[in-house]
Amino acid sequence: MFSKKTVHDIDVSGKRIFLRVDYNVPIKDGVIEDDYRIKQSLDTIHFLLERGATLFIYSHLGRPESADDKSCSLEPIAKRLAELLNREVVFVPDCIGKKTKELVASRQDAQVFLLENVRYHKEEEENSEQFAKALVDATNTEVFVQDCFGVAHRAHASIVGVAKLLPAVSGFLLEREVDTITNVMQQPERPLLAIIGGAKISDKIDILHKFIEIADAVAIVGAMANTFLLAEGVKVGKSLVEQDAVETAKTIIEKARQKAKETAFTFFIPRDVVVSSNIDGSQPTRIVDLSHHNWADIVAYPKKPDSESFEVGSEELILDIGPFSAAYIAGLCKLSKTAVWNGTAGVAEARGIAGAAAPFAHGTRIIVEGLVGEESGAKNKPFTVVGGGDTVSYVESNEGLKERFNHVSTGGGASLELMAGKVLPGVDVLWNKD
Ligand code: 3PG
Repeated sequence: MFSKKTVHDIDVSGKRIFLRVDYNVPIKDGVIEDDYRIKQSLDTIHFLLERGATLFIYSHLGRPESADDKSCSLEPIAKRLAELLNREVVFVPDCIGKKTKELVASRQDAQVFLLENVRYHKEEEENSEQFAKALVDATNTEVFVQDCFGVAHRAHASIVGVAKLLPAVSGFLLEREVDTITNVMQQPERPLLAIIGGAKISDKIDILHKFIEIADAVAIVGAMANTFLLAEGVKVGKSLVEQDAVETAKTIIEKARQKAKETAFTFFIPRDVVVSSNIDGSQPTRIVDLSHHNWADIVAYPKKPDSESFEVGSEELILDIGPFSAAYIAGLCKLSKTAVWNGTAGVAEARGIAGAAAPFAHGTRIIVEGLVGEESGAKNKPFTVVGGGDTVSYVESNEGLKERFNHVSTGGGASLELMAGKVLPGVDVLWNKD
């Protein structure tokens, strides 16, 4: 149960609201490539507008060195937000100072303001109290509403500083995210499966440990699987690996094997992989059957497979999991009641220039089929939670796919920290329910 007060628990009618969101969305040449985070913030905005509140919306975007970096301006987002709300959104070109104050004062008629990137001021990340006061002073805001789940793991001025100055409550997005993820981690319907991928083990050590402790099955995919394979003595050619994390991988494998000895638990590392000499999809691909050799036997029949079929070549890169591994994980999905998916299985974003589109997305597709496939019938589908930048981008880029998952998180680092059991400062600082 979410223990913080929300917009339901405080009088927001006619108030001036300081609304902190996470509109850190991908923008290329001024065009927003993915507006999921903006759309997810609309419930709270509508709720507040319906109660006659005036909204001053704050966000960061990217990690600008200074205000000169115009690629981090929130101006394109003001336009998109106005379209989504179908009403005027006044873009304010700074978030503090006299000019901001004057502009805001001159627009008494407006109800929605989006202020420029808070990270254009270095005091934001320093969590300066002075800066937090300047933010509130410029807009004369009365209530703080926190709806920036994606950045709630950062103790920055507009996230925790302002929350200490005003009555501080949660919006619906933050509540939904914290509630769903906490429930899945604390009282999942079992079996609980975690599919963990991504480039680096070092980014996900905490959740790897956590899931080995709490889940019934853990499957490792993506580039981090290469480091696990290396730790098992498998040749991985030129694949992306994290040399520094090989010992960590060994420790994690040991912990998982120990648990598997003591209780019903599955720890899965890919047994077959898709390799190529080039990541851009311009070169042929082949499947390497690392352990069971089923695939290699079928392909070579009636002859015996040669050793190449079992080994990644010294010039090759592992770019996806193979069909047996993908099918195994898809099977785990169908047997589980709750599945957490963080990290695509391969380089799903590679488009391929040698004919096939998305040549390294097959493993991910098969896993998705296991997670939300229509043919599995509603009663066998696990409750699905998706998190992490590349996974969410994959889900987003496939028309209609997002709606088939139960929860697609807006948070990358924040969802990992919450899953690992850490306290998020941006949540902690809010008022507790009585
Ligand atoms: C994110 O996209 O993960 C959040 O907006 C946080 O961004 P940050 O890592 O730059 O703080």
